[in-house]
Amino acid sequence: MTTPERPLAWLDGQLLPLDEARVPVLDRGFLFGDGVYEVLPVYGGHPCRMDEHLERLATSLAATGIPNPYDRPGWRRLLTQLAEANGGGDLALYLQVTRGVAPKRDHAVAPGLVPTVFAMAMPLPPRPAEVAEHGITAVTLPDTRWALCQIKAITLLANVMQKQAATTQGADEALLVRDGRVVEATASNVFAVIDDVLVTPPVDPGMLTGVTRNLVLELARADGIEYREEELLMTRLATASEIWVTSSTREVSPVTTLDGRPVGDGRPGPLWRKINRLYQEYKAGLAAA
Ligand code: PDD
Repeated sequence: MTTPERPLAWLDGQLLPLDEARVPVLDRGFLFGDGVYEVLPVYGGHPCRMDEHLERLATSLAATGIPNPYDRPGWRRLLTQLAEANGGGDLALYLQVTRGVAPKRDHAVAPGLVPTVFAMAMPLPPRPAEVAEHGITAVTLPDTRWALCQIKAITLLANVMQKQAATTQGADEALLVRDGRVVEATASNVFAVIDDVLVTPPVDPGMLTGVTRNLVLELARADGIEYREEELLMTRLATASEIWVTSSTREVSPVTTLDGRPVGDGRPGPLWRKINRLYQEYKAGLAAA
């Protein structure tokens, strides 16, 4: 399968070149950020954890009261078709469902709206070798987001501002702190190794339940790696020998500098190397399937 010259997107029932996809300005996604989304990786043409992503999508839609436009087989068909149309290989599939186009701008939801369904495939380049070699840098910032972060809402202004603040400080990611605890990062979940035990915050409405987070816990469990789902107090994080961030596009990335100070010895740690190996094996298994 070859990559098309122009990437193809899915908009309201049809495949079309991405640069031709248009949404009316009265779409509530455009005016209010009234919609939800998912991002899932495809390795060697095989979507990774598609059911888990579709389950979370269904939960986000139910929480916002946006009707789910497709059943599970319908979504699977759409995403598989989109990946194939874009050449398979390694991709990140982005899908979003908004509440639809309203007759006028009104916070109140007009009856009978038809959700807008948009999906596209983005290239998923291999992680830069320097991330595995040197790790990434992060800063801590106050979590200024709303209280329903378990919904994967397209309304990402706070995340964008926090990510921008991190970039301005020369960092790759910002870990978000609420009430003295790190809850997650702007676009990833957080793990730490504290006193030789892997720790990640427990599932909570204040954070997104990452599919990659859950996969990492599953891989750890299968390999007999001890872990705890426990609050990550900043005071404890300061003693961590390793910190990682996880997401569908970043995999498991080691944070080696936090707030300008080295984490552990300032290099990707031994437990990260182990989990990264397990993660790469899992990916290779998908591609070989
Ligand atoms: N973001 N937390 C937040 C706030 C996120 O935006 C993401 C993912 C995650 C990790 O979730 P998962 O492992 O399911 O990808 C945690 C995606 C990649 C994005 O917005 O592009």
